[in-house]
Amino acid sequence: MNRNLTEINWPNGQSSLSKIGEDWLKEAFKVGIEIPTGCLNGSCGACEIEVNGKTVRACISSIPNSTSHKLKVEFSYDPYW
Ligand code: FES
Repeated sequence: MNRNLTEINWPNGQSSLSKIGEDWLKEAFKVGIEIPTGCLNGSCGACEIEVNGKTVRACISSIPNSTSHKLKVEFSYDPYW
């Protein structure tokens, strides 16, 4: 497989082959997922998703390189919101 691509499994059951370094928000949109956003500068947390179990703020991060080239995305819900 092309080493610049990673397979992403999205919470809506879709999967995509995405370029490492791409925007999370843009890639999610391609599979029909709109990640909620607020500040777009990393401070509010509205855009948090879980990537392989780790919380990331989608607006300030991009698709990371992973050794397995497989990422599983889930929405993180903060029960105190
Ligand atoms: S939109 Fe506020 S942290 Fe990402």
